[in-house]
Amino acid sequence: NTKRNLIIVSNRLPVSVRRVDGAFQSSLSSGGLVTALSGLTKSTQFRWFGWPGIEVKDPEERAEVVESLEKHRATPIFLDSHLAHEHYNGFSNRILWPILHYTSGILYDDGPWQAYKRVNELFADAIAEAAESGTLIWVHDYHLMLLPELLRKQLQMQGKGCAIGFSLHTPFPAGDFWRNLPVRKHLIEGLLSSDLIGFHTDEYKHNFIDTCASLLGAQTQIPNQIQYKNRLVCTDKFIVGIDPQKFTDTLRRPEVQERIKSLKERYKGMKVIVGIDRLDHIKGLTQKLKGFDYFLDDHPELRTKVVLIQVAVPSREDVKEYQDLETELCTIAGKINGKHATPEGTPLLYMHRSVSFTELTALYSVADACLLTSTRDGMNLVSFEYVACQEQNHGVLVLSEFAGAAAFMRDGSIPFHPANTSEMSEALFAALNLGDEERKEKFESLWNFVATNTRETLAQMRSTWGLLLKLAK
Ligand code: UDP
Ligand code: G6P
Repeated sequence: NTKRNLIIVSNRLPVSVRRVDGAFQSSLSSGGLVTALSGLTKSTQFRWFGWPGIEVKDPEERAEVVESLEKHRATPIFLDSHLAHEHYNGFSNRILWPILHYTSGILYDDGPWQAYKRVNELFADAIAEAAESGTLIWVHDYHLMLLPELLRKQLQMQGKGCAIGFSLHTPFPAGDFWRNLPVRKHLIEGLLSSDLIGFHTDEYKHNFIDTCASLLGAQTQIPNQIQYKNRLVCTDKFIVGIDPQKFTDTLRRPEVQERIKSLKERYKGMKVIVGIDRLDHIKGLTQKLKGFDYFLDDHPELRTKVVLIQVAVPSREDVKEYQDLETELCTIAGKINGKHATPEGTPLLYMHRSVSFTELTALYSVADACLLTSTRDGMNLVSFEYVACQEQNHGVLVLSEFAGAAAFMRDGSIPFHPANTSEMSEALFAALNLGDEERKEKFESLWNFVATNTRETLAQMRSTWGLLLKLAK
């Protein structure tokens, strides 16, 4: 039933608010979750609840922030800055994120865990109050894994019947990995109060179902269903995608065409490789730079013929591991250019900043190849965006086999193992030397996938659980 109210809940809102010289400024948030969900606004009406990104105490100032977010149909959930820091940086990004991406030993502290619980409770209070009977509540991502359970309790107390869906935008690790987390059971139990849980790939879904069986003794014999205590929870794979038309339309705009022209002029006679990643360990940026160094060592004649334009979008800068990574990348980038630069120029352009949409689409469009080296990645929408901008040139996607997108794009891309430097270098070389026919064939297979799995596919999740709700009545 498309007329039902829909509430979307995520930690990150589509815009983040900042205080600049005493006044509030909002800017578009970075990252795949916002990209995927923002696409939904074309076809679906919803209200979006989340954290505004800053602490605001004064009631008048709060009203100002509420008003500024209203045009995005977004409602802020205000948090005190220490609590927000412990929840977002301390637990979500330092403890949970690495475990979900297979990159952690036992890193655990009780303080951040208590903050995580508290923030999930505060979200439950706000959402339960805003929901009415029949509202579909759709919770997103690892910052809010306890929310379905807390929300279910509150809604029951208030006599409201609502369907709760949950989408995880990261991988869910296989086998034993999740056990590293001392609070492993609480988080899974929190999720199992949802009616429907969505994952990006079958692999993540299976890993989750296996964990429910081994950790909680849940019944999982019926495919895609988890029976736990008195609840029946459905799980499914829902491919997130982008709105490709937004890219093809933008490419036609005069200022983008202008920018494409000047970039083509600048890199005439050269092959351009592009990389767009949030500055995050899971994107394999260290591996990417080392792979490029190896590539240049192997093909010194290409030093003046190839350029890698790498945008590293600043992310989670209050977390020490992210700060250290930034320092490390600067050093490696400097060394690579020290070694391979010529009076003609440098083969690597490393930019630690975000770029405008005009610049982004122009970069995607002029690049002969896009190199993505994730060591693990929920989906990776940058790979979709590159394809959406390559209708003319049929550029080649060089994609790590560990990106969620590789489960669907293997044939159309050149896959490689991101820790295998020589394999990466060979994949890049192959991409830059692929014949026209093969490039066209690969592009068409990718384009088919990107054009079919748009934001509408994510909207399917909404209708699936609308259906579940009807059946339940
Ligand atoms: N992006 C951004 N700011 C930039 C450059 C890119 O917000 O300066 C966008 C990019 O276009 C893409 C998203 O960030 O839509 C990244 O999504 P992806 O799924 O690839 O990775 P995530 O950041 O979610 O891990
Ligand atoms: C990933 C996560 C999202 C997150 C995004 C950007 O895509 O799955 O939940 O919003 O990264 O990260 P940030 O920490 O800035 O929200």
